[in-house]
Amino acid sequence: MSYTASVVGASGFAGGELLRLLADHPEFSLVQATSRSKTNRTVGHAHPNLRDLDLRFSTPDDLESVDVLFAATPHGVSMAEIDRFWDSADTVVDLSADFRLPSEALYDEYYDGHSRPELLESAVYGLVELTREELPGADLVATGGCNATATILGLLPLVDAGLVDGTQQPVVDVKVGSSEGGAGGGEASSHPERSGVVRPYAPTGHRHEAEIAAFLGLDVAFSVHAVDMIRGASATWHVFPDEPVSKRDLWGWYRERYEDEPFVDIVAGGGGVYRYPEPKTVAGTNRAEVGFALDPSNGRVVVISAIDNVMKGAAGQAVHAANVALGIEETAGLNFRGLHPVGAP
Ligand SMILES: NC(=O)c1ccc[n+]([C@@H]2O[C@H](COP(=O)([O-])OP(=O)(O)OC[C@H]3O[C@@H](n4cnc5c(N)ncnc54)[C@H](OP(=O)(O)O)[C@@H]3O)[C@@H](O)[C@H]2O)c1
Repeated sequence: MSYTASVVGASGFAGGELLRLLADHPEFSLVQATSRSKTNRTVGHAHPNLRDLDLRFSTPDDLESVDVLFAATPHGVSMAEIDRFWDSADTVVDLSADFRLPSEALYDEYYDGHSRPELLESAVYGLVELTREELPGADLVATGGCNATATILGLLPLVDAGLVDGTQQPVVDVKVGSSEGGAGGGEASSHPERSGVVRPYAPTGHRHEAEIAAFLGLDVAFSVHAVDMIRGASATWHVFPDEPVSKRDLWGWYRERYEDEPFVDIVAGGGGVYRYPEPKTVAGTNRAEVGFALDPSNGRVVVISAIDNVMKGAAGQAVHAANVALGIEETAGLNFRGLHPVGAP
């Protein structure tokens, strides 16, 4: 074990996944898991899949000294606590939106401003497929939002290829599971209200628009539906390129962008039941599936991507980014597959 780690906000959904990953990580030793409401309870009390861990929640008021602190807390906590987090850890990996956006102006527009805007420039976005070169040595990593992660991974090859630039406004629709709302949930996420829905909860104006525009360099037409699954985010883009493209072009661009990526699989047609990206097949893993289809009648390119929102969209991405930031083998602790067959995730 080379590095010690703590998880602040460890009783939540993303925090629980961090505990699961760090407990079995070959290079991390998990020393602290915090929860204000469950202090002194075993972590298995909140996360029954972790009953075998000999670890109890402690208060975030007394942070132990560690190498890496993972913060899986609601928006606003990390920006208020960052000095204390840094007092206890050399590296902070924040899963909230507090340090994702590159400018204070964007926080004024999409959130309620920012109390530590001077740190935004040095914070590194934690989506390794995008920021692998910037992460080594970073002391503040901000992992991407789950909807933004699914969206960015889908379109990245077309942006890199120059097929999509600022002149088009691609349309993307994301379907997301209820765990996105966190363990606290709320009325909209309660079982009777959520079960069976296809609820367009953010047809316009979703906060992740800002993140997508900042990291893809494009304005996007972005809508999100809450659907009846627990885990998963599935993004579908509709792109109308200026020039006609072929299926061969698309395969070439996606292969070029992703063939060396350890956690991205291209799933684009072919045989079998699962011919396009599917949240169910990546549930519980750090893997992303991306794929595409071409409509020859009008030149439309449909791009589809699927991730597990609490893994590739949160905890898995955070551990992946920490691995790269610390110079650990990139796939350490994350190289496991999903289940098949499996029930609704
Ligand atoms: N769920 C997802 O799919 C997802 C995806 C990407 C990013 N994220 C982001 O990850 C963060 C955590 O999300 P989540 O879904 O895991 O939320 P959650 O289930 O509601 O968990 C929040 C955690 O933070 C703790 N907490 C709350 N207020 C705190 C405070 N002031 N100080 C210290 N700890 C505090 C809570 O426990 P106590 O109240 O007991 O302390 C709990 O452990 C959020 O910022 C979210 O936006 C979530």
